[in-house]
Amino acid sequence: MSKENEKTIEVYKEKASLYLETTIKHDNLDPEKAKRKRERLEKFIRSNMERLPKGVKVLEIGSGDGSNARYIKELGYDITASDIAEDFISAIQDKDLKTIKFNVLEDDFKERYYAVFCWRVFVHFTKEDAEKVLQKTYDALEKDGLFIFNAMNREIRNVDEEWVDFPNEYHMGVERYYNYFRKEELDDIISKTGYQIYDFHKEGGENNNKWLVYVLKK
Ligand SMILES: C[S@@+](CC[C@H](N)C(=O)[O-])C[C@H]1O[C@@H](n2cnc3c(N)ncnc32)[C@H](O)[C@@H]1O
Repeated sequence: MSKENEKTIEVYKEKASLYLETTIKHDNLDPEKAKRKRERLEKFIRSNMERLPKGVKVLEIGSGDGSNARYIKELGYDITASDIAEDFISAIQDKDLKTIKFNVLEDDFKERYYAVFCWRVFVHFTKEDAEKVLQKTYDALEKDGLFIFNAMNREIRNVDEEWVDFPNEYHMGVERYYNYFRKEELDDIISKTGYQIYDFHKEGGENNNKWLVYVLKK
């Protein structure tokens, strides 16, 4: 695992409860916008999960507060949520979800899954980390399984990577590592894993291009 991810994980381990608070504060700044974003995300999750039979095993990597995992459970799937920080694990368990402590770069997958969901986590991966995660998830999926993830788009920034502590939204008092990926770069890594790109779009931000959103199929 990269030094960048290792240092960023240390921040989450120490500050997960603060992260959970700032996220709520951020959403409260514009509740209507937060609601619209949530509805859009849930529609996206639903439309992809519906490709799979109900009840199959699904893993979420880097679940944070567990909202996405809770939604996947509500849809009728056997979801396991995961994260690396104790305070995230507690927040997820409070939602009555199956939870494991899991560092995707360090730990081995103990089970096989029909889908793996990884939302807003690639932002903290170097290119080498991303390669590793794509290969490891490929190996952990059942045949025809889906890997659903997003990464921040290099088109929106004039740097490849940076250490950031956002001034107002998600302020944590410590910088975290952010990597901005080019679509061509990710497509190239993906092509070496065996995955097929099943679906792709860009979304978010002023020009609807902040995030690169992939649905990959084994
Ligand atoms: C920006 S937060 C996103 C949380 C959640 N997925 C969401 O969309 O609200 C990034 C998450 O990635 C997790 N993370 C970072 N590196 C990780 C790693 N190597 N293994 C597992 N989780 C990791 C962090 O602990 C944190 O929960």
